[in-house]
Amino acid sequence: QWGLNTDWLGHNLQHFKEVTSTQEVVHQLAKQGKPHGTVVIADKQVQGKGRMSRNWDSPKGKGIWMSILLRPELLPYQAPQLTLLAATVLAEVIAEQSSIMPQIKWPNDLLINHKKVSGILTEMQAEQDQIQYVVLGIGINVNQTESDIPEELQHKASSLQVESQQHWSIQDTIQRILQQFERTYDQFMTDGFKAVKLKWEQFGYRIGEEVTISTMKKSWQARLVGIEPDGALLARDEKGKEEKLYSAEIHWGED
Ligand code: BTN
Repeated sequence: QWGLNTDWLGHNLQHFKEVTSTQEVVHQLAKQGKPHGTVVIADKQVQGKGRMSRNWDSPKGKGIWMSILLRPELLPYQAPQLTLLAATVLAEVIAEQSSIMPQIKWPNDLLINHKKVSGILTEMQAEQDQIQYVVLGIGINVNQTESDIPEELQHKASSLQVESQQHWSIQDTIQRILQQFERTYDQFMTDGFKAVKLKWEQFGYRIGEEVTISTMKKSWQARLVGIEPDGALLARDEKGKEEKLYSAEIHWGED
Protein backbone atom coordinates (compact mmCIF):
# COMPACT_ATOMS: atom_id res chain seq x y z
CA GLN A 1 0.00 0.00 0.00
CA TRP A 2 2.72 2.46 0.95
CA GLY A 3 5.22 1.49 -1.73
CA LEU A 4 8.02 3.18 0.15
CA ASN A 5 11.29 3.53 -1.62
CA THR A 6 13.41 3.42 1.56
CA ASP A 7 16.22 1.28 2.94
CA TRP A 8 15.18 1.22 6.57
CA LEU A 9 12.54 3.81 7.35
CA GLY A 10 9.00 2.53 7.57
CA HIS A 11 9.75 -1.11 6.82
CA ASN A 12 7.82 -1.69 9.99
CA LEU A 13 4.88 0.66 9.41
CA GLN A 14 1.66 0.44 11.36
CA HIS A 15 -1.41 2.33 10.28
CA PHE A 16 -4.33 2.82 12.67
CA LYS A 17 -7.77 4.32 12.18
CA GLU A 18 -7.70 5.79 15.65
CA VAL A 19 -5.21 5.98 18.50
CA THR A 20 -4.80 8.03 21.65
CA SER A 21 -1.54 9.42 20.34
CA THR A 22 0.93 7.96 17.87
CA GLN A 23 3.63 9.05 20.35
CA GLU A 24 2.18 6.71 22.97
CA VAL A 25 1.98 3.82 20.54
CA VAL A 26 5.60 4.26 19.48
CA HIS A 27 6.79 4.50 23.09
CA GLN A 28 5.16 1.12 23.68
CA LEU A 29 6.66 -0.38 20.53
CA ALA A 30 10.07 0.97 21.56
CA LYS A 31 9.78 -0.76 24.91
CA GLN A 32 8.93 -3.99 23.10
CA GLY A 33 12.22 -3.65 21.24
CA LYS A 34 10.86 -2.69 17.82
CA PRO A 35 13.57 -1.55 15.41
CA HIS A 36 14.95 1.83 14.41
CA GLY A 37 12.76 3.25 11.67
CA THR A 38 9.42 1.88 12.92
CA VAL A 39 6.62 4.23 11.88
CA VAL A 40 3.11 4.66 13.25
CA ILE A 41 0.46 6.61 11.37
CA ALA A 42 -3.09 7.32 12.46
CA ASP A 43 -6.10 8.76 10.66
CA LYS A 44 -7.21 10.28 13.94
CA GLN A 45 -5.81 10.88 17.41
CA VAL A 46 -8.09 11.40 20.36
CA GLN A 47 -5.31 12.62 22.64
CA GLY A 48 -2.83 14.18 20.27
CA LYS A 49 0.02 15.77 22.20
CA GLY A 50 1.77 19.03 21.45
CA ARG A 51 4.82 20.54 23.11
CA MET A 52 4.58 21.91 26.63
CA SER A 53 1.74 19.49 27.48
CA ARG A 54 -0.58 21.18 25.01
CA ASN A 55 -3.20 19.27 23.04
CA TRP A 56 -2.79 18.70 19.36
CA ASP A 57 -6.06 18.61 17.49
CA SER A 58 -5.94 15.63 15.11
CA PRO A 59 -9.26 15.20 13.32
CA LYS A 60 -9.92 12.18 11.15
CA GLY A 61 -8.40 12.25 7.69
CA LYS A 62 -7.49 15.92 7.81
CA GLY A 63 -3.82 15.69 8.47
CA ILE A 64 -0.65 13.70 8.93
CA TRP A 65 -0.38 12.31 12.43
CA MET A 66 2.74 10.20 12.50
CA SER A 67 5.54 9.15 14.85
CA ILE A 68 8.89 7.64 14.01
CA LEU A 69 10.99 5.45 16.30
CA LEU A 70 14.68 6.23 16.07
CA ARG A 71 17.59 4.60 17.83
CA PRO A 72 20.28 7.08 16.89
CA GLU A 73 23.90 6.84 17.85
CA LEU A 74 23.96 10.32 19.26
CA LEU A 75 24.52 11.87 22.64
CA PRO A 76 21.42 13.12 24.44
CA TYR A 77 22.35 16.77 23.90
CA GLN A 78 22.27 16.15 20.14
CA ALA A 79 18.69 14.88 20.08
CA PRO A 80 17.22 18.36 19.40
CA GLN A 81 19.13 18.32 16.12
CA LEU A 82 16.69 15.64 14.99
CA THR A 83 13.84 18.11 15.46
CA LEU A 84 15.57 20.64 13.23
CA LEU A 85 16.29 17.90 10.72
CA ALA A 86 12.65 16.87 10.61
CA ALA A 87 11.49 20.48 10.24
CA THR A 88 13.86 20.91 7.29
CA VAL A 89 12.53 17.78 5.64
CA LEU A 90 8.93 18.94 5.99
CA ALA A 91 9.77 22.37 4.63
CA GLU A 92 11.53 20.84 1.63
CA VAL A 93 8.71 18.46 0.80
CA ILE A 94 6.12 21.23 1.00
CA ALA A 95 8.21 23.60 -1.09
CA GLU A 96 8.74 20.88 -3.71
CA GLN A 97 5.05 20.10 -4.05
CA SER A 98 3.71 23.63 -4.26
CA SER A 99 4.73 27.19 -4.85
CA ILE A 100 4.74 27.86 -1.12
CA MET A 101 7.85 28.78 0.78
CA PRO A 102 7.33 27.45 4.29
CA GLN A 103 9.32 28.85 7.17
CA ILE A 104 10.65 27.18 10.27
CA LYS A 105 10.14 28.92 13.56
CA TRP A 106 12.86 27.59 15.81
CA PRO A 107 12.85 24.95 17.03
CA ASN A 108 9.96 23.10 15.55
CA ASP A 109 7.07 25.03 14.08
CA LEU A 110 6.42 25.13 10.39
CA LEU A 111 4.72 28.31 9.29
CA ILE A 112 3.16 29.36 6.04
CA ASN A 113 2.23 33.02 5.68
CA HIS A 114 3.06 33.40 9.39
CA LYS A 115 0.55 30.72 10.40
CA LYS A 116 1.40 27.40 11.95
CA VAL A 117 0.60 24.39 9.80
CA SER A 118 2.82 21.81 11.42
CA GLY A 119 4.61 20.92 14.63
CA ILE A 120 7.19 18.39 15.70
CA LEU A 121 7.41 16.71 19.08
CA THR A 122 10.67 14.96 19.89
CA GLU A 123 10.67 12.79 22.98
CA MET A 124 13.79 11.06 24.15
CA GLN A 125 14.40 8.17 26.47
CA ALA A 126 17.94 8.36 27.82
CA GLU A 127 19.85 6.49 30.48
CA GLN A 128 23.29 7.29 31.78
CA ASP A 129 24.07 9.75 29.04
CA GLN A 130 23.00 7.32 26.37
CA ILE A 131 19.98 7.62 24.14
CA GLN A 132 17.80 4.55 24.40
CA TYR A 133 15.44 5.78 21.74
CA VAL A 134 13.74 8.84 20.34
CA VAL A 135 10.11 9.20 19.34
CA LEU A 136 9.82 11.86 16.68
CA GLY A 137 6.24 12.98 16.16
CA ILE A 138 5.12 14.92 13.14
CA GLY A 139 1.76 16.64 12.91
CA ILE A 140 0.71 18.47 9.76
CA ASN A 141 -2.60 20.15 9.13
CA VAL A 142 -3.21 19.09 5.56
CA ASN A 143 -6.75 19.29 4.28
CA GLN A 144 -8.60 21.35 6.86
CA THR A 145 -10.68 24.05 5.26
CA GLU A 146 -11.02 27.46 6.79
CA SER A 147 -14.22 26.45 8.54
CA ASP A 148 -12.46 23.47 10.16
CA ILE A 149 -10.13 25.83 12.00
CA PRO A 150 -11.62 27.44 15.11
CA GLU A 151 -12.16 31.13 14.58
CA GLU A 152 -10.05 32.19 17.53
CA LEU A 153 -7.07 30.32 16.02
CA GLN A 154 -7.43 31.47 12.44
CA HIS A 155 -4.92 34.28 12.81
CA LYS A 156 -2.19 31.86 13.78
CA ALA A 157 -3.08 28.36 12.57
CA SER A 158 -3.77 27.06 9.10
CA SER A 159 -3.45 24.06 6.79
CA LEU A 160 -1.57 23.23 3.62
CA GLN A 161 -4.82 23.31 1.69
CA VAL A 162 -5.90 26.72 2.91
CA GLU A 163 -2.51 28.29 2.27
CA SER A 164 -1.79 26.64 -1.09
CA GLN A 165 -5.33 26.50 -2.48
CA GLN A 166 -4.65 22.96 -3.62
CA HIS A 167 -5.65 19.53 -2.38
CA TRP A 168 -2.90 17.40 -0.86
CA SER A 169 -2.83 13.62 -0.86
CA ILE A 170 -2.02 12.51 2.66
CA GLN A 171 -0.57 9.20 1.58
CA ASP A 172 1.60 10.69 -1.13
CA THR A 173 2.87 13.41 1.19
CA ILE A 174 3.74 10.84 3.88
CA GLN A 175 5.70 8.83 1.31
CA ARG A 176 7.68 11.86 0.25
CA ILE A 177 8.37 12.86 3.82
CA LEU A 178 9.63 9.43 4.80
CA GLN A 179 11.83 9.14 1.73
CA GLN A 180 13.32 12.57 2.22
CA PHE A 181 13.67 11.98 5.94
CA GLU A 182 15.70 8.83 5.38
CA ARG A 183 18.05 10.55 2.93
CA THR A 184 18.59 13.51 5.22
CA TYR A 185 19.01 11.35 8.32
CA ASP A 186 21.63 9.16 6.63
CA GLN A 187 23.49 12.23 5.46
CA PHE A 188 23.34 13.68 8.96
CA MET A 189 24.79 10.50 10.42
CA THR A 190 27.70 10.48 8.01
CA ASP A 191 28.44 14.20 7.63
CA GLY A 192 27.12 15.65 10.87
CA PHE A 193 24.75 18.52 11.42
CA LYS A 194 26.44 20.93 9.00
CA ALA A 195 24.38 20.04 5.93
CA VAL A 196 21.15 20.16 7.90
CA LYS A 197 22.07 23.55 9.32
CA LEU A 198 22.62 24.99 5.85
CA LYS A 199 19.24 23.79 4.65
CA TRP A 200 17.55 24.88 7.85
CA GLU A 201 18.84 28.38 7.35
CA GLN A 202 17.07 28.66 3.99
CA PHE A 203 13.79 28.30 5.83
CA GLY A 204 14.65 29.99 9.12
CA TYR A 205 11.97 32.34 10.35
CA ARG A 206 12.61 35.79 11.81
CA ILE A 207 16.36 35.31 11.78
CA GLY A 208 17.86 38.79 12.10
CA GLU A 209 14.71 40.12 13.73
CA GLU A 210 13.86 41.45 17.14
CA VAL A 211 11.73 39.01 19.16
CA THR A 212 10.72 38.16 22.69
CA ILE A 213 12.25 34.99 24.05
CA SER A 214 10.94 33.14 27.04
CA THR A 215 12.41 30.24 28.92
CA MET A 216 11.24 28.64 32.14
CA LYS A 217 13.24 31.24 34.06
CA LYS A 218 12.89 34.53 32.24
CA SER A 219 11.62 36.50 29.28
CA TRP A 220 13.60 39.10 27.35
CA GLN A 221 14.00 40.99 24.07
CA ALA A 222 16.67 39.87 21.66
CA ARG A 223 17.64 39.64 18.05
CA LEU A 224 17.82 36.17 16.50
CA VAL A 225 21.28 35.66 15.05
CA GLY A 226 20.99 32.15 13.63
CA ILE A 227 21.59 28.58 14.63
CA GLU A 228 24.83 27.23 15.97
CA PRO A 229 26.74 24.25 14.57
CA ASP A 230 24.98 22.09 17.17
CA GLY A 231 21.47 23.37 16.46
CA ALA A 232 21.19 25.79 19.39
CA LEU A 233 19.57 29.12 18.66
CA LEU A 234 21.84 32.10 19.01
CA ALA A 235 20.23 35.30 20.27
CA ARG A 236 21.78 38.68 21.02
CA ASP A 237 20.25 41.02 23.57
CA GLU A 238 20.22 44.81 23.47
CA LYS A 239 23.59 45.03 25.21
CA GLY A 240 25.14 42.74 22.64
CA LYS A 241 25.31 39.78 24.97
CA GLU A 242 24.86 36.52 23.10
CA GLU A 243 23.12 33.51 24.45
CA LYS A 244 22.83 29.98 23.10
CA LEU A 245 19.40 28.50 23.60
CA TYR A 246 18.55 24.85 23.58
CA SER A 247 14.98 25.23 24.63
CA ALA A 248 12.80 28.34 24.60
CA GLU A 249 9.72 29.89 23.08
CA ILE A 250 9.88 32.79 20.68
CA HIS A 251 7.21 35.44 20.36
CA TRP A 252 6.82 38.68 18.53
CA GLY A 253 4.17 41.34 18.31
CA GLU A 254 1.23 40.64 20.55
CA ASP A 255 1.49 36.87 20.06
C1 BTN B 1 3.80 21.04 18.67
O1 BTN B 1 3.98 21.90 17.80
O2 BTN B 1 3.40 21.36 19.80
C2 BTN B 1 4.09 19.60 18.35
C3 BTN B 1 2.89 18.88 17.76
C4 BTN B 1 3.18 17.44 17.44
C5 BTN B 1 1.95 16.68 16.97
C6 BTN B 1 2.26 15.29 16.50
S1 BTN B 1 0.91 14.52 15.68
C7 BTN B 1 1.74 12.99 15.69
C8 BTN B 1 2.41 12.88 17.03
N1 BTN B 1 1.49 12.32 18.01
C9 BTN B 1 1.17 13.21 18.94
O3 BTN B 1 0.38 12.99 19.89
N2 BTN B 1 1.82 14.36 18.74
C10 BTN B 1 2.68 14.30 17.57
